[in-house]
Amino acid sequence: MKLLILYFSATGITGRIAKVIGDTFTQMGGDVTMADITSYADRQRIIDLKPYHAVVFGAPIHSWRAPKAVKEWIRTLNGQGKKCSTFFTYGGFGVHPTHYSTGQLLGNQNFIVVSSAEFLGFYSFNRPGRQAREDRLDESYFEVAIEYARKTFKRFTGEDKSILEKTHYTEEQLDTLESFKFNVLTQIPTRDGEDCSMCLVCEESCPTEAMNAQYGEADKEKCIACLACVNNCPENVLKIKDVSDGWSFKGEMEKIIGKNMKGQKSKIYL
Ligand SMILES: Cc1cc2nc3c(=O)[nH]c(=O)nc-3n(C[C@H](O)[C@H](O)[C@H](O)COP(=O)(O)O)c2cc1C
Ligand code: SF4
Ligand code: SF4
Repeated sequence: MKLLILYFSATGITGRIAKVIGDTFTQMGGDVTMADITSYADRQRIIDLKPYHAVVFGAPIHSWRAPKAVKEWIRTLNGQGKKCSTFFTYGGFGVHPTHYSTGQLLGNQNFIVVSSAEFLGFYSFNRPGRQAREDRLDESYFEVAIEYARKTFKRFTGEDKSILEKTHYTEEQLDTLESFKFNVLTQIPTRDGEDCSMCLVCEESCPTEAMNAQYGEADKEKCIACLACVNNCPENVLKIKDVSDGWSFKGEMEKIIGKNMKGQKSKIYL
């Protein structure tokens, strides 16, 4: 069975889980192709799905949903009635509607979504030296990724005929929430400091062509605040404003408090 794993990973966490899933499919007899769609250029290429039996989509969660750049890209695909599955990595805030809203989006593009999963990892906004949520990516999450891959493989082969259920959130509700969170709780990077070597890594690693290395600034309309540029800058001169004041508010809004963070686990949705 030929399987395609397409993943977006601005700071590398989703890519690590994608590899575990790919390796598990291979061990089960799958013929697996991995494709990183993080860069803008990779998302412009036309992907021919014909040779594949089924497709897996992996992405980080951005404001309870797949990143904007991924949602826009999904709208360009033709699923040809093929089975697919989704998985997401997240930092410890809200997740739940992501599975079903991305599922709806894929359904509109003629995919049949059979399963989904979420993996608790490393919160992107910890990267500039802060600690909004505890870093939780460890070997035990890889075990959930293996279990997810095994169950999904059975749904792809038809041994298990079930598919994913639907969400009660509308796209309009999620659009409102996403734009509120982006405007109030998210900050886009700018250069702060004299030590830029003009290596252009920030510009080249930006998935949405938002970063301008010369000015050390991101285009506000294009930036999705994924932090790939901050993560990749070798001189560590790209900064985001400290938004940690908003984290307790965010935690309250999403009904998450420090003490029950420990209870959060990676999960499979079937
Ligand atoms: C703009 C943005 C929004 C985010 N929103 C959420 C969120 O709503 N809930 C959450 O738990 N984590 C959120 N995160 C954290 C990421 O989902 C998490 O760190 C993810 O594992 C990063 O994956 P990557 O390294 O593959 O890019 C957000 C990260 C960014 C950059
Ligand atoms: S990645 Fe960092 S050092 Fe390189 S051009 Fe961008 S800001 Fe300058
Ligand atoms: S400029 Fe914005 S979209 Fe581009 S890499 Fe940086 S944070 Fe991500």
